[in-house]
Amino acid sequence: MAQTFNILILPGDGIGPEVMAEAIKLRQELIGGCSIDAHGKSVTEDVKQASLDSDAVLFAAVGGPKWDNVRRGLDGPEGGLLQLRKAMDIYANLRPCSSSSPSASIAKEFSPFRHDVIEDVDFIVVRENCGGAYFGRKVEDADYARHSSRRRSGPPTRSPWPVISLDKANVLASSRLWRRVVEKTMTTEYPQMKLVHQLADSASLIMATNPRALNGVILADNTFGDMISDQAGSIVGTLGVLPSASLNGLPGDKTLKTRPYGLYEPTHGSAPTIAGLNIANPVAMILCVAMMFRYSLNMEEEARRVEDAVRKVLDSGLRTPDLGGKAGTKEMGDAIVAAL
Ligand code: NAI
Ligand code: MG
Repeated sequence: MAQTFNILILPGDGIGPEVMAEAIKLRQELIGGCSIDAHGKSVTEDVKQASLDSDAVLFAAVGGPKWDNVRRGLDGPEGGLLQLRKAMDIYANLRPCSSSSPSASIAKEFSPFRHDVIEDVDFIVVRENCGGAYFGRKVEDADYARHSSRRRSGPPTRSPWPVISLDKANVLASSRLWRRVVEKTMTTEYPQMKLVHQLADSASLIMATNPRALNGVILADNTFGDMISDQAGSIVGTLGVLPSASLNGLPGDKTLKTRPYGLYEPTHGSAPTIAGLNIANPVAMILCVAMMFRYSLNMEEEARRVEDAVRKVLDSGLRTPDLGGKAGTKEMGDAIVAAL
């Protein structure tokens, strides 16, 4: 029987509407600079409520020079996204990186790494998304911090794998707290999983020299997670094909006090200099749809089908200009739909 889901579509600014159109063939103007223009604020209460009422949110990108004067804090376009993350409490940001991903053929061409170094790379970064320095709150309240770090550990998704927890426990008090809580959570709730503590700076070096050594679930706070996930992006060598998911948990998680929320967004921004030219790469946005099927809608087969279609089209050599090709945004989207 056909199921019906409620998906909130937030295309945003710049190339956002273009890449989103390829992912869903639909447009609305709800968040980001476009919302500042229309409503005087980067995200409205209506949009926050709609996010909480949806099974998932597909988000493209926000921001651009037009709104530089309102760019500070929560008022700017990017602030709208921070407010949404907070409202949905989507504290776990997932960024997969695997040599068997649909964009593997892109990595072969564009990765600055030698092939043998990135062969069989297979990890997922889980970054804490709603706390830490990004939200400007001092970590003073030990109870709050303990609660927050604990939730940061999230449910591991791939049980045979190690969890590699990044911190700077050698110098930072916040990291020592992080480490204690990760340790306690893992031993009491996930005793079957191997836990490795890795200093964040040396993790960076390992990522740059032998990324396979980090295969597993890389767990990190907001700051270290931001840095290591961007660095992981260098393995593929380009922004236009990297999706991400932000979750407060998974469907079926009995500890959740709300419904499961998921927001899916490409790792790239609104690329204002190429907006409106039909040259933006829609692959990252389309792979977000696959992640949405996987994590929010519990539709693994559909997720794989979308990924297979992307893989097939990329393997066929069709490329947008960011990857040295001539295909337009729409042509790329159409080819992927045809492959599907
Ligand atoms: P960006 O990711 O928008 O662009 C970086 C470079 O990659 C540019 O050369 C751009 O042309 C290219 N690029 C990005 N996405 C592409 C795609 N799909 N296809 C082809 N080429 C692509 O980052 P930038 O330039 O630092 O920021 C531009 C605006 O986006 C800023 O206002 C920034 O604040 C905002 N931004 C928003 C994000 C979000 O909504 N989550 C994330 C990052 C930036
Ligand atoms: Mg980043």
